[in-house]
Amino acid sequence: MTFSKIGVIGAGVMGVGVAQDLAQCGLQTVLLDVNTGVLDKALKTIADNVRLGAMLNRTAETEPVETVLGRITPTVDYAPLAAVDFVVENVVEKPAIKEPVYHRLDAVCPPHCVFAVNTSAISITRVAGWTNRPAQVVGMHFMNPVPMKKLVEVIRGFHTSDPTIETARAFLAALGKKAVVVNDMPGFVSNRVLMLTVNEAVFVVQDQVASAADVDKIFKGCFGHKMGPLETADLIGLDTILYSLEVLYESYNDPKFRPAPLLKKMVDAGLHGRKSGRGFYQYPNM
Ligand SMILES: NC(=O)c1ccc[n+]([C@@H]2O[C@H](COP(=O)([O-])OP(=O)(O)OC[C@H]3O[C@@H](n4cnc5c(N)ncnc54)[C@H](O)[C@@H]3O)[C@@H](O)[C@H]2O)c1
Repeated sequence: MTFSKIGVIGAGVMGVGVAQDLAQCGLQTVLLDVNTGVLDKALKTIADNVRLGAMLNRTAETEPVETVLGRITPTVDYAPLAAVDFVVENVVEKPAIKEPVYHRLDAVCPPHCVFAVNTSAISITRVAGWTNRPAQVVGMHFMNPVPMKKLVEVIRGFHTSDPTIETARAFLAALGKKAVVVNDMPGFVSNRVLMLTVNEAVFVVQDQVASAADVDKIFKGCFGHKMGPLETADLIGLDTILYSLEVLYESYNDPKFRPAPLLKKMVDAGLHGRKSGRGFYQYPNM
């Protein structure tokens, strides 16, 4: 199976990672976001990441930054998506923002095009209902940072067909990645569990049981985790954590998913984690 051109929608934390990975694997990529400022920042981040990767990995042959960037077409216009075979959508984790994007994609993308939904928690069956091609909609929950993570949680929605699952596997194989295919329920496997852990860790800090650093120390030192839950939250983005919890809370109608008030307060204050320079920790170079 070959993919001549891929659409990547949203150029934030995840869209940047997906576009970089695609371009470094030799795939032509159309990268769409709402304005050119976001796209310029995304291309700069990709260039920095490619340079840093080359510095850290001197033994491997690395293509020049210009070659990698040359495979990415930034756009605020949907017209170039008429030529793509596969789309990875990575816009903000809010159904009200994602839904109109799918209406536009459905209208412009060719009939054979598969839509891969990169979401933390939104049901894939729900997203598929926003299109006229529900059999060609599949969940593709990439991990962050995308180029370094070789396993992807792939979600089969109610109508997702077997050929779509095979296309998703082939797409991931082209990126050197493997899939674990799971059935659709909000949050899937990873975030149904992880979001509860992160949220409870925020409650622990809110209740002054321990500092964020001590919470993370316990998970790393006692359980052997590479990162603690609050470092993970900063990496994901505290806004994305909050929106994911809101989706889970609304989807299951279960109070166990209610977001910690401290999390809401931090997001309101603009503390979105690494991407904003401050979350539970400070990131002076961001
Ligand atoms: N951050 C993570 O670790 C992570 C991991 C897996 C999945 N996800 C999921 O990936 C998706 C994106 O998350 P992120 O962390 O990249 O968020 P982000 O906030 O960093 O980026 C979202 C991007 O979407 C863009 N956007 C907003 N409205 C748009 C529209 N109408 N059309 C096109 N672009 C639009 C924004 O300008 C922004 O650049 C979310 O659904 C999230 O749940 C995130």
